Amino acid sequence: MKNLLSINNKINIFNKVINVEGDKSLSIRWVLLASQASGKSKAYNLLMSEDVLAAINGVKKLGIVVNTKKNYCEIIGNGINGFKYKKNLTLDAKNSGTFGRLMLGLLIKSSKKIKMIGDKSLSKRDFSRITIPLEKFGAKFYYKKKNKLPILILGSESTKGIRYIENKGSAQCKSSVMLAAINSFGTTFIKAKKSRNHSELLFKYLKIPIKVKKAKNYDFINIKAPKKIKAFNYKIPGDISSSAFFIVLTILTKSSKLLIKDVNINPSRIGVITILKKMGAKIFLKNKRNYRGEKISDISIQGSNNLKRINCPVKLNSKAIDEFLVIFLVAAKAKGTSYFKDLSELDQKESPRLKWGSKILNMMGIKTKLTKDSIKIYGQPNLKITKSIIIKNYLRDHRIFMMSTIAALTFGGNWKIHDKDSINTSFPSFLKIIKKIDNKFL
Ligand code: S3P
Repeated sequence: MKNLLSINNKINIFNKVINVEGDKSLSIRWVLLASQASGKSKAYNLLMSEDVLAAINGVKKLGIVVNTKKNYCEIIGNGINGFKYKKNLTLDAKNSGTFGRLMLGLLIKSSKKIKMIGDKSLSKRDFSRITIPLEKFGAKFYYKKKNKLPILILGSESTKGIRYIENKGSAQCKSSVMLAAINSFGTTFIKAKKSRNHSELLFKYLKIPIKVKKAKNYDFINIKAPKKIKAFNYKIPGDISSSAFFIVLTILTKSSKLLIKDVNINPSRIGVITILKKMGAKIFLKNKRNYRGEKISDISIQGSNNLKRINCPVKLNSKAIDEFLVIFLVAAKAKGTSYFKDLSELDQKESPRLKWGSKILNMMGIKTKLTKDSIKIYGQPNLKITKSIIIKNYLRDHRIFMMSTIAALTFGGNWKIHDKDSINTSFPSFLKIIKKIDNKFL
């Protein structure tokens, strides 16, 4: 079967240098903001994955010209609210929560009803988290199944800034409201629990009137509509979430070394590094530099055979939200019992990841104690898997596929992992990079 990955051998010791593809959050934000700019913007190293293609196709359907060239992507923006709203328009967000939710923020002024649909996984996910604040701006929503896709949005001509408290630590909710704010009269005030801040940094870089006051657990953001957004070129740095799979592959492969070049190390994204270092992993950031408000560095990793348990501080949760599945693999190999709590948001992702993480660890022979929002993982530093493990029916969650692949390559056993094409969501070159690291891997 073409879409099935079988792994029956561990990866060999390696010492390599790799690049991962462009950051997904920044790629989608570039597409959406370039669509609102006036004139031609270019992105280099834009992630060409299904989530980003969904965003590109979305803005195209709204009349924006997008040209994909060999080395860059070009978007000819039509200015703020420059979308062409046609009758019976359907946008397909596919698997992308980020595009689906952020785009609805940009459609706050649509003069026609626009339908947003998504794949099976996205159609199970909650949209009330953004329809509630967007209704306050003046938009109307229509759906059959409460707060689930398909959803129709009808914007309002006179949208007004709102006051909004975001208390899930969700950058998607915060960013959706921020995009609605650039289309609205007056000021929008947001009190947001800490989450990734790429939108804020891009707004600052683009001179969109934004003020951010940082407090301990929350940020206070206020935004006014700009008159115009200038077209802008952007070189998307490598994705830390994609890097995390290779960071863990290296940590769990004794005597191996890896250098990942040019990765975005935005402090709101590197919880994975903080957590793994606390567990005894050898990770070093080299050649640090700044790029348009973002931080970039090379990441050097060494294999480890002395990993410690962690009682993971809750304040790191949103900074590592997409990386917990691979962090759980390190906990499986660590000495002692690790504890991760306050993680109900993990079950709101492309699949219920807290449940799936626990299930896969159990299949591997690792004991876990799972509650609605926490997991205890009983590590086994000497675990060697010899049995067969089949991973399927996981809603094609790309990160479940990649976590399972890393587990197979580091713990052994005979794995059959279904839905190989799920990697196209966020990291199409994932398997090619593994082959580059160990060319015996097919
Ligand atoms: C993202 C935010 C996170 C993350 C997702 C990308 C973003 O979701 O899980 O992969 O680009 O804003 P939440 O904001 O819902 O936590």
